[in-house]
Amino acid sequence: MALLTRSCLFLHVCFTLVVISVDFAQADSDWSQYVNIFQGTEGGGNRFPGVVAAPFAMVKLGPDMRNGDANAYSGYLPEGNIFGFSMMHESGTGGAPKYGVVSQMPVVGVPISLEDLSQPRASPDEGGVGYYKSFLANGVTVELAATEHAGLYSYDFPQDSVSSVVVDVSHVLPSFRGFGWEQHYSGGNFSLFEDGHYEGSGIYNNGWNLSPDWTIHFCGRFNQQPWEYWAFYGNSSVPGTSVSGSERLGGVFTFSGPKVASRVGISFISSQKACENLEEIAEDTEILALADVAKTRWNKEVLNKVQISSDNVDDLQLVYSSLYGMFLIPSNRSGENPGWSSSEPYYDDIFTLWDTHRCHTALFQIIQPEAYEEFIRSLIDIWRHDGFMPDARSSNYNGRVQGGSNADNVLADAYIKGVRGSIDWEDGFSAMQTDAEVVPPNNFDPNAPDSSTKEGRGALPDWLQYGYITPRFSRAVSQAVEYSTNDFGLHQVAAGLGKSTEAETYLNRSQNWRNHWNPAATSYDHAGFVVPRLENGSFVPQDPANCGGCYWSDAYYEDSSWVYSMNAIHDVAELKKRVGGDARFVDRLNKIFELGFFDAGNEPSFVTPYLYNFVQGEQWRSVNRSRDIGALYNAGPRGLPGNSDAGAMESNLLWQMIGLYPLTGQTTFLILAPWFESMTMDLGNGKKLEIISSGGNRNTTFYVQSLKVNGETWDRAWLTWDDIFANGGTMQYVLGERPVHWATGDLPPSPASD
Ligand SMILES: *[C@@H]1O[C@H](CO)[C@@H](O)[C@H](O)[C@H]1NC(C)=O
Ligand SMILES: *[C@@H]1O[C@H](CO)[C@@H](O)[C@H](O)[C@H]1NC(C)=O
Ligand SMILES: *[C@@H]1O[C@H](CO)[C@@H](O)[C@H](O)[C@H]1NC(C)=O
Ligand SMILES: *[C@@H]1O[C@H](CO)[C@@H](O)[C@H](O)[C@H]1NC(C)=O
Ligand SMILES: *[C@@H]1O[C@H](CO)[C@@H](O)[C@H](O)[C@H]1NC(C)=O
Ligand SMILES: *[C@@H]1O[C@H](CO)[C@@H](O)[C@H](O)[C@H]1NC(C)=O
Ligand SMILES: *[C@@H]1O[C@H](CO)[C@@H](O)[C@H](O)[C@H]1NC(C)=O
Repeated sequence: MALLTRSCLFLHVCFTLVVISVDFAQADSDWSQYVNIFQGTEGGGNRFPGVVAAPFAMVKLGPDMRNGDANAYSGYLPEGNIFGFSMMHESGTGGAPKYGVVSQMPVVGVPISLEDLSQPRASPDEGGVGYYKSFLANGVTVELAATEHAGLYSYDFPQDSVSSVVVDVSHVLPSFRGFGWEQHYSGGNFSLFEDGHYEGSGIYNNGWNLSPDWTIHFCGRFNQQPWEYWAFYGNSSVPGTSVSGSERLGGVFTFSGPKVASRVGISFISSQKACENLEEIAEDTEILALADVAKTRWNKEVLNKVQISSDNVDDLQLVYSSLYGMFLIPSNRSGENPGWSSSEPYYDDIFTLWDTHRCHTALFQIIQPEAYEEFIRSLIDIWRHDGFMPDARSSNYNGRVQGGSNADNVLADAYIKGVRGSIDWEDGFSAMQTDAEVVPPNNFDPNAPDSSTKEGRGALPDWLQYGYITPRFSRAVSQAVEYSTNDFGLHQVAAGLGKSTEAETYLNRSQNWRNHWNPAATSYDHAGFVVPRLENGSFVPQDPANCGGCYWSDAYYEDSSWVYSMNAIHDVAELKKRVGGDARFVDRLNKIFELGFFDAGNEPSFVTPYLYNFVQGEQWRSVNRSRDIGALYNAGPRGLPGNSDAGAMESNLLWQMIGLYPLTGQTTFLILAPWFESMTMDLGNGKKLEIISSGGNRNTTFYVQSLKVNGETWDRAWLTWDDIFANGGTMQYVLGERPVHWATGDLPPSPASD
């Protein structure tokens, strides 16, 4: 509420808080007013609050902060000093900070020393969609707005002081994480021109993906001629108008008046292209006018796609803040790829498919179908030119791989849901087959030197030889479970393309998770878990409740065997047999929650709460879990239960609100229970999905009593893409306080089970 008042004050978008009537015909409403850009920026959410002028815009302009050894993953921290405002950021990632490059920093007076120009804030940062404002302790206020490839800085200095802006090419987000994941500045150049504009380039390397040197070019113009400007190298001013080298370097600009504005363009191609990109912002553009353009784009391209009946401001803020948070990265860098020239689109900042393939990409397809098709084409084009699709990628370099090659699952999901357009699916399948058949060269990652963490499937030699992965490879068991789902993805696309031999081969391989199943492994009254397995076939004694450090060198990555044993979502019928049938399956799921193995803030357990739908009469338990998970979210700065992870966390919540959960790689959606009396999703081409419920309440009354899909009584706890998404559809629920056994029909499919 405080936040809304604030955006009212500063953005001049005043609206009524008391009664908001939602008119579904009104397609041009300003849903952006409900977006809290600070959602998930604290408490580990790591979301980027700065300016992203359109979905997936290349420029992400915001503050860079230091606070002791806290890692500013997105640049932003709630406490500490701002040491620059820079043009490139990631959003919601863990690992280590990346980017924070191409910066400006305002300084009151003429800077005598460049040593530490950082400033605390006078009051908390503010902003809304397309707009950001910081109040520095030295009396300078900084306002930011942007377009896709350029940023606009507007500075308000104290009256009667000399106003300076320092451009430091060496500026980059530091990491205090250790692990060798920190970024380095490796050099650059900087040139001043007589008209007061500047151009240059910065070169950086490393970060979480261990990337080699990469270059960003920039071009900056002020709205007035500086009365003095000079270049610096090391820490001191130098004569002349150009500097280059590997030391800290850049320029200082001083102005006589208190109001200074600056336009900056960036480009991966050249500083000349950066100057062209700068022209996306016309001279003398007002900050708030540019912010309005951004709001219009976000409303039209994302926010307007989902409308709810609720007039509860908490609900509206949660829906629209979550939708916004889903589309900050990847970055659409079409036309900005320095690696190769191609007419295909290019998307970078994939951080990571390991996070997003589980339920983000399925919603990405629905909300942003055009960008989604471009994204799939880009994944395939990266394979064409770099040899492998990414599991994660930034600064034009693949890395790092945490488990399997999950682009396979994403491509499969897109293929079976009919994404075609200009995608070359023969190439798509070849890209997937590269993952499945070609051992990627080892990049000798110090944290996992056994095999590639750059791309592909490092543990493929064992997978091909034994059908399981031995402990000579790190993360052996969790990788094996993911390779199974990856191979199921290959099966799906091969089957669709009429490649029947390949389809059978990969279906067989998708069952290989079973080879890690040790029926004798026990934990908390349950027997049968996926465990490490040796060359000679013996299982390694391993407590399924304990994953050691659960990290790069362990058998399981970021979750225990309790969770990974339930992750082969294409083979659930077989899994149920192995755990001892329906009752034992339900008991095992319950224990995952009761014993604390479930973590709503980490992706491998995203699907766990909804597996109850695979047992007759137990769908209500999925709804119960879904509601418990929903309660962990809010629209505030601490409103995400874990890293946003490029919007993976937000997409998970949105599915709860919709009342469905996608099984990536299949057309199946598990049915939960919707949050609102009415939600309408615009599916494009005039098609829509309407989800209506009666008798319910988001917080207290939510068990499904009955359901009609497209007017027909529905008795299954699942439906398919074709039922409601391919051509639109309606779902009409009656909700109530007590569970009833409404889903008496067939169980969801288990396509890999015998
Ligand atoms: C600055 O460095 C970039 C990247 O290395 C290079 O392309 C450019 O030619 C250099 N410009 C000058 C003026 O030295
Ligand atoms: C510039 O100053 C910083 C901070 O005092 C120092 O670490 C660095 O060595 C100096 N660089 C040069 C080239 O003198
Ligand atoms: C991606 O960027 C390119 C180049 O700016 C643009 O032509 C294309 O429309 C963008 N894609 C989407 C979905 O906005
Ligand atoms: C798949 O597995 C079945 C059963 O083990 C086997 O008969 C069949 O030959 C396998 N197919 C391929 C293509 O490997
Ligand atoms: C497999 O190798 C392990 C370790 O060398 C050994 O302890 C175990 O007895 C072997 N199992 C079989 C079946 O030979
Ligand atoms: C779900 O069930 C658990 C265990 O019975 C219970 O503690 C929790 O309150 C329920 N959640 C909701 C939202 O009803
Ligand atoms: C449901 O609970 C949330 C969290 O306490 C609250 O913000 C929201 O207003 C409630 N909604 C309704 C419809 O009661």
